[in-house]
Amino acid sequence: MYINKIKIQNFRNYENQEIQLDKNINIFYGDNAQGKTNILEAVFLCAFGKSFRTSKDKEMINKDKEFSNIDIDYEKKDRVGNIKFKISDKKYVYLNDVKLKKLSELIGNINLVIFTPDDINILKDGPAARRKFLDMMISQLRPRYLQNLNLYLKVLEQRNNYLKQKLNNDEMLDIWNQKLAEYGEIVYKYREEYINKIKDKIKDIHAEITNEDIKIEYNSDCKNKEKYLEKLKRNKEIDKIKGYTSSRNS
Ligand SMILES: Nc1ncnc2c1ncn2[C@@H]1O[C@H](COP(=O)(O)OP(=O)(O)OP(=O)(O)O)[C@@H](O)[C@H]1O
Ligand SMILES: [Mg+2]
Repeated sequence: MYINKIKIQNFRNYENQEIQLDKNINIFYGDNAQGKTNILEAVFLCAFGKSFRTSKDKEMINKDKEFSNIDIDYEKKDRVGNIKFKISDKKYVYLNDVKLKKLSELIGNINLVIFTPDDINILKDGPAARRKFLDMMISQLRPRYLQNLNLYLKVLEQRNNYLKQKLNNDEMLDIWNQKLAEYGEIVYKYREEYINKIKDKIKDIHAEITNEDIKIEYNSDCKNKEKYLEKLKRNKEIDKIKGYTSSRNS
């Protein structure tokens, strides 16, 4: 897919800007603080419904204005599309002029991978940063993935809240263990499928750059539902003391 046109109004330092893009590579260059990353942020917002730089949406509205609009035309191999994004008192999103009820419906229309200098943390930081990067890509390709991941995260949050209360009811924990193992295995399978798809490509690209071999593997406690369940049970007493789930997939 590619983006044909970006129109931004009152977005960050832009008042009214229309940008026509080429099908292939587009390079934005300019002085520091001129607004290059702001353009990328506007596109990211239309792909994910949130910024990669701030959790405060209003920050993106030009400081002298009350609202901001982004309008993107894109083309996929089988269809053309348009996304309109408005930030004012809250966020409003239109896909082909139809208002979306949920922001999650936006994901997967514009397919986007962002890679900034900060993303070196994918290697430097712990596995959570790597999972987050994976999640961002899989959720654009597989809408059901995000649903299952959110269910997993919801159960995990409930289990952790329960552990914090130190109520010591094992039956309740068992219920969450079941659900966690169920969704955990689903999430694992999507991630494994994706890694399998990209690992040979990464190997080739890496060898071209460095002449070295690279091996990518996805390991997780959630690989097998029964085994994960056993581990959750085994860790029960530790979890109770810690007040959170020690074996998790997020
Ligand atoms: N809400 C806002 N209203 C007006 N201007 C804003 C707002 N938010 C950010 N800016 C301005 O946007 C500019 C920064 O834009 P951006 O981060 O896109 O720069 P850049 O071209 O990517 O710079 P660099 O080369 O340093 O990465 C700054 O001048 C900042 O003052
Ligand atoms: Mg920048």
